[in-house]
Amino acid sequence: MTTKLLQINDLEKDKAALEDAAALLRAGRLVAIPTETVYGLAANALSPDASKAIYAAKGRPSDNPLIVHISAYEQLEPLIRQEAPQMAALAQRFWPGPLTVVLPKSDLVPPETSGGLDTVAVRMPSHPIARALITLAGVPLAAPSANRSGSPSPTCAAHCMHDLEGRVDAVVDGGPCGVGVESTVITLCTQPPRLLRPGAVTLEMLREVLPDIEIDPGVFAPLPENAVVSSPGMKYRHYAPKARVVLVRAAAAPFAEFLKRQEKPFGALCFEEDIGMVEKPYIVYGREKDGQSQAAALFGALRQADEYAWELVYVRIAPGEGVGQAVYNRLLRASGFSEITP
Ligand code: TXA
Ligand code: MG
Repeated sequence: MTTKLLQINDLEKDKAALEDAAALLRAGRLVAIPTETVYGLAANALSPDASKAIYAAKGRPSDNPLIVHISAYEQLEPLIRQEAPQMAALAQRFWPGPLTVVLPKSDLVPPETSGGLDTVAVRMPSHPIARALITLAGVPLAAPSANRSGSPSPTCAAHCMHDLEGRVDAVVDGGPCGVGVESTVITLCTQPPRLLRPGAVTLEMLREVLPDIEIDPGVFAPLPENAVVSSPGMKYRHYAPKARVVLVRAAAAPFAEFLKRQEKPFGALCFEEDIGMVEKPYIVYGREKDGQSQAAALFGALRQADEYAWELVYVRIAPGEGVGQAVYNRLLRASGFSEITP
């Protein structure tokens, strides 16, 4: 199939492209769309065939459930079996935005969308194009990240084309994503609620509404074999370039020294502050004390490492607050939890 590239800079001026994308979604087709976190591969969440087509295009294991995206709070109720008491307060504080909530699902959500689970993950994105498309499609949209399964998530339309050209009906180009890492995922199906994937809505922010929220053990440590996983996504190697990734916890100077002692060839991922200290080749991913700048650059940097065909990458990591925790979680997964302190 040929993949249409639909440019949308302005919802009014580019109405025709927006309508093209909406018509494809209404027809049960696959369209990669921008959200504020990463690009999503969207299709009708209520159609078993549309969901199956998403798994096929991504090469995604069918037990890894999809996030269902809505554009108005009223769209939540039909998707869930019973309202969780904390949900209204969470939505009030964090929706629209980068928070996904796992809730008991209703029969309206087909098992193809929920990966066979009796729960459903729901999120209301804040990106104007995503919201407009959900509304115009007239149905909630299932949308996993629009990458081939296992690769880093796409943060611009070119990443989506690279991974999915010829496999999806259209890619909407709405420019680069602001956040750069996927949404925070929590579940309200456990008591107390649990953080399953860190993101731009941080633990500190969540505690304002859910004072007793816990971090799932799979977030910052490898799960033991045969462990019961709270989120199927945790089982899979993720966000990974083809290279072997090793995280190095060090300040700029010791990192540069460490690299000098390593056998070549390898590449480095480092911070803006390291330029001039670290020998080439390197790729910069944000500033040392600015988790948001790291989040915005991370997946593009991991994809660049693949473009350079690096086989080994040393990534400098530094203590990070807030969204820095999400960056660390993605890097742990990209490295298969391989971290050293020189
Ligand atoms: O920011 C995002 O969330 C992006 C954009 C496109 O919205 N989407 C995204 O989807 O990252 P995906 O499919 O790449 O990641 C969804 C994660 C997976 O790790 C999956 O296992 C988990 O959410 N998940 C989905 N439904 C779940 C459920 N019912 N219970 C537990 N985990 C669930
Ligand atoms: Mg993904």
